[in-house]
Amino acid sequence: MDKIEVEGIKNLKGNIQISGSKNSSLPILASSLLIDDEMVISNIPNLSDIKFMIKILESLGSKVNFKNSICKIKPNQPRNLKISYELVRKMRASFLILGPLLTKYGYAEVSLPGGCAIGTRPVDLHISALEKMGAEFIIEDGYIKGKVKGRLKGCEITLKKISVGATENIIMAATLADGETIIKNAAREPEISDLSNFLVDSGAEIDGYGTNVIKIKGKKRLRGCEFSVMPDRIEAGTYALCVMGCSGNIILENVNDLICNHLKKIFKPLNVLFLSKKDNGKKLVIKRTNRFQNNVTISTKEFPGFPTDLQAQLIASLVKSEGKSVIKENIFENRFMHVSELRRMGANLKQKGSKIIIDGVKDIYGAEVMATDLRASSSLIIAGLMASGKTIVNRVYHLDRGYENLEEKLRNCGVKIRRFS
Ligand code: UD1
Repeated sequence: MDKIEVEGIKNLKGNIQISGSKNSSLPILASSLLIDDEMVISNIPNLSDIKFMIKILESLGSKVNFKNSICKIKPNQPRNLKISYELVRKMRASFLILGPLLTKYGYAEVSLPGGCAIGTRPVDLHISALEKMGAEFIIEDGYIKGKVKGRLKGCEITLKKISVGATENIIMAATLADGETIIKNAAREPEISDLSNFLVDSGAEIDGYGTNVIKIKGKKRLRGCEFSVMPDRIEAGTYALCVMGCSGNIILENVNDLICNHLKKIFKPLNVLFLSKKDNGKKLVIKRTNRFQNNVTISTKEFPGFPTDLQAQLIASLVKSEGKSVIKENIFENRFMHVSELRRMGANLKQKGSKIIIDGVKDIYGAEVMATDLRASSSLIIAGLMASGKTIVNRVYHLDRGYENLEEKLRNCGVKIRRFS
């Protein structure tokens, strides 16, 4: 199993090319099942989660060619309509296949995701919405088996909790359903808008994405298109928090105006981190100087709030600030697996329910630590950059799910980092 060794650094300096968004690429790849012709999707990051999704598409008969961030997909009539436990266990986003298969082929068998490292993460919202559209489900041998008589029927669905994945599954299912579907209390994440833009380019009729009411008029068929995936705002935010943790001056390249504005807004309370747009928002300059006084209170929230996917990295970046900060996790239970590892490096962190209280310390120290999930892994890398001495992060396969060329990108900013097994 691969490990990463990283040395502490005082000032990050350099340029980082931000990759295409993982959380946008995954539903877009899943939605390729809805489309009849060949499509070309660019700016797809080379990550293990993406490779899983491609494996799923191939197991369903699609011909996929993925090279140099470009994915060419030629859909085919699936040989079978089953996604095995092996694939869903490794990546929960496999569940995004359910909506497309049911609406296009009238049948799907998908292994239930089960528990995972960041809480129980149920799928009830996906299932009840598809049931309302006319699908029938049974659970057998750990699989959820769904079937539809004729076509799914458009209807009004009010999500009782905001869910990114459920919103995406419903949008995809609705594009080929009979009539209009209205999703109320929909998630507003930019990745949902990216998926919707891809589907609209493929001939779908979708309105209101980016707001909490989305309307989709079902079509008989969707055609192929060429599309470029948006940049990864979580990857961009992670590198910004590297600068927050150890100071420096970096330029993020290949971002967009929306990401610049979003990061500027969510990082505003971190009043020593300065973000400024360049080249009409295609680049974002990130700066921080000196050790800092900071008493921050931040809670995670759905978009446009502070993303839960940056919570672990935020905590790491604040462990050496002067003062007391409070970070509250509102989206997932049990998303604090990184906290005990950060403590092992000398961080002073206390947990009170869904809050972490950070009492800044003068220094933290390199140690051998264990990555437990994707974002926990990047928080340990940030801590490693801030620590004196060397840090060894174990189980970096978690990191490879969401960060393309992380070592190379950090090396370009002066970091001493290496991978070994
Ligand atoms: C997506 C992102 C993930 C991010 C999360 C929240 C992808 C591939 N993953 O995950 O990185 O952390 O959004 O921004 O895009 N819930 C239910 N019932 C359901 C579905 C969800 O109760 O049927 C709950 C979840 O347990 C959680 C909350 O709703 O508490 C939000 O989850 P959701 O937005 O669905 O997350 P994902 O789509 O799985």
